[in-house]
Amino acid sequence: MTRQEHHPSMPQPAWWLRRRDEILKIADGQLNAYVYELETVRQSVQRLRDLQSIDRVLYAMKANFNPHLLRLLASLKVDFECVSPGEVEHLLRVVPDLDKSRILFTPNFAPREDYQWSRDLGIQVTLDNLYPLQAWPEIFAGQKIFLRVDPGQGHGHHEHVKTAGDRSKFGIPRFEVDELVSLVEKAGADVVGIHAHSGSGIPEPDSWGQVATELARIAARFENVSVLDLGGGLGVPGRADEQAFDLQAMDQALALVKARLPGYEFWLEPGRYLVAEAGILLTHVTQLKGKGNRRYIGVGTGMNALIRPALYDAYHEIVNLTRYGDPLAETANIVGLICETGDTFGVDRPMPVSHENDVIVIANAGAYGRVMSSRYNLREPPQEIVI
Ligand SMILES: Cc1ncc(COP(=O)(O)O)c(C=O)c1O
Repeated sequence: MTRQEHHPSMPQPAWWLRRRDEILKIADGQLNAYVYELETVRQSVQRLRDLQSIDRVLYAMKANFNPHLLRLLASLKVDFECVSPGEVEHLLRVVPDLDKSRILFTPNFAPREDYQWSRDLGIQVTLDNLYPLQAWPEIFAGQKIFLRVDPGQGHGHHEHVKTAGDRSKFGIPRFEVDELVSLVEKAGADVVGIHAHSGSGIPEPDSWGQVATELARIAARFENVSVLDLGGGLGVPGRADEQAFDLQAMDQALALVKARLPGYEFWLEPGRYLVAEAGILLTHVTQLKGKGNRRYIGVGTGMNALIRPALYDAYHEIVNLTRYGDPLAETANIVGLICETGDTFGVDRPMPVSHENDVIVIANAGAYGRVMSSRYNLREPPQEIVI
């Protein structure tokens, strides 16, 4: 029988295993909590800083807007990609001395007011549709803008997170580029950056090199483009024994492209890569059940706290921390307490024999976890603790 334990052949043990005693203490006295470890964020930043081909890293703050994480990232000289006025305002509230030149604003199908607002505030805006230039050209007169284009091929861990290609609502398609050039000219705007984000959870390291090549083709249609923003989407493995994303291979592929395109800065805007592994959702076993030939382990929170498994079929490692190292004696579905069949964190997971009040860790929950939570069923989302 296998045991849930760390094998020497696996990557480094997760931080929450190294700090198991501390985590068990935190879990004592509260049913659920998100716990974030700042050191893990620091290490992720450092890995991206070490990339030779990347000139600037912006954090896609939609992934997690916890104030402690935002302050840490700002102090580590990571800049920010925001998708709404609400995100920008929150960021400026929690990091009041942040220079606005460190913010990139990437709205999608947003109302006219958002573009006017960003112009008045003086933050760099990205357009991802012809419509704003057709309908409201006066807003962009004399303004430096970025353009988000559709590189043609979506990538990612699920259909819902592919943000390019014919079935995605994002980006200006290639066949509209001629019209785009003339609209930009008519509006009197100045295109300084070309952007694409083709999806989330992309495991193929050469994807960003291909995007850079495609963006450069479009950049050549404008006089003043100095930035190719290659988006985020760097893969984060869900399973403990999966290989980490191959950053070196990505860097090498990009270095080759950059050597052919010396006039451009390359930017990256990851969300998940910077914060996913730093966060866990901590909960407790509430009830146990055997029905048909299936075992169920019920826990004290649900899809209202972490919707990724229900929304994207996302895989999150689930560990009984109280009984870590015990034989994995049964196979069970780990389910939440929300009144939905989709409220399932994991299917057919090998688990130790579990008991009421055991502490359960749902791993890699630092990105798109608490930020996507709701009060569905009037169950409050878990509080956040930073260590
Ligand atoms: C424009 C843009 N940039 C960056 C990201 C970050 O993606 P990820 O968290 O997969 O790195 C997103 C995610 O949706 C996005 O829409």
